[in-house]
Amino acid sequence: MQTLVTVIGARPQFIKAAPLSRCLRGRLREVLVHTGQHYDAGMSDIFFDELAIPQPDYNLGIGSDSHGAQTGRMLAEIERVLDIEKPSQVLVYGDTNSTLAGALAAAKLHIPVIHVEAGLRSFNRDMPEEINRVLTDRLSTTLFAPSDVAVRNLRDEGIRDGVHEVGDIMLDAVNANVARAAECSRILAALGLSKKSYYLCTIHRAENTDDPVTLRAIFDGLASLDRDAIVPLHPRTARKLAESGIAPRGAVRAVDPVGYLDMLALQSSAAAILTDSGGVQKEAYYCGVPCVTIRRETEWVETVGTGWNVLCGADAETIRRAAAAQAQFDGPRPPLYGDGRASARISEIIVRA
Ligand code: UD1
Ligand code: UDP
Repeated sequence: MQTLVTVIGARPQFIKAAPLSRCLRGRLREVLVHTGQHYDAGMSDIFFDELAIPQPDYNLGIGSDSHGAQTGRMLAEIERVLDIEKPSQVLVYGDTNSTLAGALAAAKLHIPVIHVEAGLRSFNRDMPEEINRVLTDRLSTTLFAPSDVAVRNLRDEGIRDGVHEVGDIMLDAVNANVARAAECSRILAALGLSKKSYYLCTIHRAENTDDPVTLRAIFDGLASLDRDAIVPLHPRTARKLAESGIAPRGAVRAVDPVGYLDMLALQSSAAAILTDSGGVQKEAYYCGVPCVTIRRETEWVETVGTGWNVLCGADAETIRRAAAAQAQFDGPRPPLYGDGRASARISEIIVRA
């Protein structure tokens, strides 16, 4: 039986790993490595519990640091694990520092790298994620792309071999959990919310949080919304708000990060979603809730093409207007990222390798 090492470390990677890990287990030996990039219980443990992800075989406990220090420490520790486990392949997800560290450690040891969510591009090299994606795709032998556009992006960079278009693995996760969320989550009642009585907002991207002027403009925009703005605060954002002396006010109701089931419940009933998250833009579409993406560009361009998602600069008045307009949006919602069976396809290809 082949050994596969899977490297995860940040919130969205736990959610992506859940459906694929379920498909792979029993068909090969999966060794799960948690880098420890995200470590708060609400950013890590809660997803393992809710989604029944197997406990990691290794938790590297790397924690937070500058990009170079964090990625470098991960690289050294992952290499140590690969030396012990001698896997036939290494699997990484998405575009975080954990993704790049896993891919680089494996490639240097001549172990084939599998990248799930390959080919996404913002074409903005100021984003740490863009650097991580471009390098990871370059290092990978098997590349699972969620869309035609992602396949084309890879082709434009000369990457043709080993590319498989399989759809979006996050759709598998939504399909597996959305009914359970409606049944089990108590968050709407706990926060006194009803269908479409509120906006759901998540902000965590460095480009939005790290400049106090930008962060203040965004929170001024959220404060001015015409309904409650429920904001599960990413720890990075909580820290930056505190450092910049910005207190949530007006419509903003800041809460701690929530688990996946509560998040799906909050997303499904929102009037609209305002976010800079990659995953949340897609989930908004899957839930049939209009989205305002507070960024200059998106990797998930297809959602913008349908009108369900609009891009919006970090300007308070523009945010207020975009939210009010999107809350009224309705339109056709064709499948953009496959049929929700990405994990089955990916596991079949991995097992056959
Ligand atoms: C990381 C990813 C980003 C992804 C996001 C998902 C990189 C470069 N960025 O961003 O692509 O969208 O995760 O959420 O990999 N912190 C805590 N507790 C935690 C985790 C983080 O307090 O459990 C705080 C620390 O102050 C830390 C800051 O958040 O310095 C940022 O964490 P980090 O993992 O470096 O980046 P994210 O912003 O979470
Ligand atoms: N999410 C969650 N609780 C929260 C915020 C987000 O469960 O409080 C989920 C969200 O539903 C999505 C994933 O986390 O599945 C997205 O992660 P994040 O926005 O941190 O990262 P990105 O997708 O931008 O890399």
